[in-house]
Amino acid sequence: MALHVEASAPSNIALIKYMGKTKTASNTPANASLSYTLEHLRTFVRLERGPAGWQPLEGYDVLQLSEHGRTKFLAHFARLKGAWKIEGEFTVRSANNFPSDCGLASSASSFAALTEAAYALARKQHPELEVSAAVRARLSRLGSGSSCRSFFTPWALWRGETAEPVNLPGPLAHAVVLCEAGKKDVSSSEAHRRVTSSALFTGRVARAEARLEQLTRALRENDWREAFELCWSEFWDMHALFETSRPSFGYMNAGTLAVLARLRSIWQRDGDGPLVTMDAGPNVHLLLREDQIARAAEWLDGLSVLKSWGGAK
Ligand code: PMV
Repeated sequence: MALHVEASAPSNIALIKYMGKTKTASNTPANASLSYTLEHLRTFVRLERGPAGWQPLEGYDVLQLSEHGRTKFLAHFARLKGAWKIEGEFTVRSANNFPSDCGLASSASSFAALTEAAYALARKQHPELEVSAAVRARLSRLGSGSSCRSFFTPWALWRGETAEPVNLPGPLAHAVVLCEAGKKDVSSSEAHRRVTSSALFTGRVARAEARLEQLTRALRENDWREAFELCWSEFWDMHALFETSRPSFGYMNAGTLAVLARLRSIWQRDGDGPLVTMDAGPNVHLLLREDQIARAAEWLDGLSVLKSWGGAK
């Protein structure tokens, strides 16, 4: 048997957000979410025969996982070993191809990559094993909810137990305006728990579901302005939940607000601009049509930006 396997998986950015769970243990979401897969932002995982534990994977940006992060990651590997009857002890090595201190969440790509690496290992040990991407995504979801969307590209829809590809226009280019690096004070697991204490959580599921409907229609009909308005409302909806939770928390800072104001004025001036969204962090994510890339230099001038022109050079 080979001594190691390697796999990688991309990150994804949600335009309709997964925020709130109906079942915490299985990461079952309160509402459906829609994401764009970020092919250029990936986690690489290598499993090698050796003492059980986690180590950084050399050759990429060095990643340091917290004690809690390691425990969660290794617990997911143990779950996969059980599900696919993987035998033996393995060292799990992982790293991202994007800077780990840039404030970008890497849990989606990390857990998807670990699931894919464990699957590759399971197939080495049991060549007859065949597990569809949908079932692998379901298992991955148990480790990190949003990771189940990273199994489908370029668009993924996740509702309840099921994540699947969805046919919407692309490719789109992606960029992140970095407003602050560093660790977040409130983890996404804690955010999922806390948002249900907000008075605004009443009606949240219906709002997200209605927006999902409207956004998929707008994207299909190439109504880019409507798509922008819906994405904009959606991330503010999520951040309003954060700010109105008990106790309240938040991720936006002065830099974030300045970037958002600038992007909105671009839309007001030109009647066009990027789709704008935010995760549970201070950074601002942009999705652009291919024909907008040339203009993006002006839009982003002077800002600290991580560009990943996914599919579009
Ligand atoms: O997969 P988790 O538990 O890290 O949740 C991520 C939730 C958001 O990133 C804030 C939104 C989303 O849908 O990805």
